[in-house]
Amino acid sequence: MIARNDRLSGFRARLTGAGLVVLVSASASLSTPRSVVGAQAAQGAPDGMALYGAGCASCHGSDGRGASADRIAFDDPLPDLTDCSFASREPDADWIIVSKAGGPIRGFSDVMPAFGEAFDDDQLQAIMDHIRTFCTDRAWPRGELNLPRPLFTEKAYPEDEWVWTTSMNAEGPGAIVNELLYEKRFGSRNQVEIALPFGFAEDSSTPASSDGGPASDWGVGLGDIEIGYKRALLHNLRTIFSFGTELKLPTGDSERGIGSAEFQIEPFLALGQILPGDAFVHLQAGGGLLARGHRESHGTAEHDEDVREAFFHAVLGRTFTSGEFGRSWSPMVEVLASTHLADGAQPQWDLVPQMQVTLNTRQHVMLNVGVRVPLTDADVRSTQFLVYFLWDWFDGGLFDGW
Ligand code: HEC
Repeated sequence: MIARNDRLSGFRARLTGAGLVVLVSASASLSTPRSVVGAQAAQGAPDGMALYGAGCASCHGSDGRGASADRIAFDDPLPDLTDCSFASREPDADWIIVSKAGGPIRGFSDVMPAFGEAFDDDQLQAIMDHIRTFCTDRAWPRGELNLPRPLFTEKAYPEDEWVWTTSMNAEGPGAIVNELLYEKRFGSRNQVEIALPFGFAEDSSTPASSDGGPASDWGVGLGDIEIGYKRALLHNLRTIFSFGTELKLPTGDSERGIGSAEFQIEPFLALGQILPGDAFVHLQAGGGLLARGHRESHGTAEHDEDVREAFFHAVLGRTFTSGEFGRSWSPMVEVLASTHLADGAQPQWDLVPQMQVTLNTRQHVMLNVGVRVPLTDADVRSTQFLVYFLWDWFDGGLFDGW
């Protein structure tokens, strides 16, 4: 875990008389924002740089790196707003909420003041536009594109997160499958991940018990471990488009139905699109290339490969916020289609209605609950209940910001 505070500990400041003077004069100029009025350009369009200078620079520094320790009167570390890895992640809307209502609204320090009285929304937006100039590398996709995560569809946005997903069959032989997923960004556009599935499955081949009731022989097994790579190829403020690939390793316990115990490569393309009214779409399309067991011929091992599967996922969702600064609720409907290509089989369709909700004040710990309903072959495929627990670890420790 790399918590924000560890990264920022270099900015620890000490309480000094001089710092207090700076702080007092900063807050005095806020309560009667004469400098703010002066920062308004002639036509009435707010001048973000001047407003930032008047309200924020005393602590955040005119260059965004944070005022030096001898100029501030508090101990709390200040973020480096020129660090793209930090500054690109949060959407404007979240930073405006923190600036309006103060640090504690998102579980941050109460040293970060509330400016809701001093600045209106247009002025705060102008300040955000100025803060956005501190990170000069446009390769970093903006936090606005970090849309709510569906249960199955891989997002286009690169992430730093832990996700624990549990799925359970509603009928048929019992199976509870868990997946622990770790995702880590590197550079401006890349992400690697590793997924460790493990499960408990009921062995349906066990003969019925002597009292005639259903036998229940549950076994524990490891699934197919997956490693993956993803890279954002294109992005603007509303759209992000990525390429990725996953490699499944044959570690699964196929006899218990947990994993297929075969090598599989799954290349895919993913798109995230912001729609008007806090609505959004995710699309993902890819193929499953299976490396079947190798044969010996002329003393060399040959892999018998073919494209076995093609899949398409589509998600439509919308985020609702309770109260102006509150919890986010994101209902989504996910459609999954997959087909085996080789044998001309019919495609299989599933519908997955679900709801993601942010759990804590900082909004970096979330839950998603959904149900996967088979639309085809419903007689042989079970309905599944799913839930995931997600921790965006870059935004703070698991127990921070509640
Ligand atoms: C009195 C000092 C002070 C002033 C003035 C101040 N800030 Fe802050 N700000 C802080 C501190 C301290 C933090 C770090 C809080 C934390 O990480 O717990 C912070 C954090 C932030 C963050 C980061 C939130 C995040 O997601 O990590 C933003 C954005 C921000 N301030 C914007 C502003 C803006 C805009 C202004 C001026 C309108 C401003 N601040 C004025 C002290 C200040």
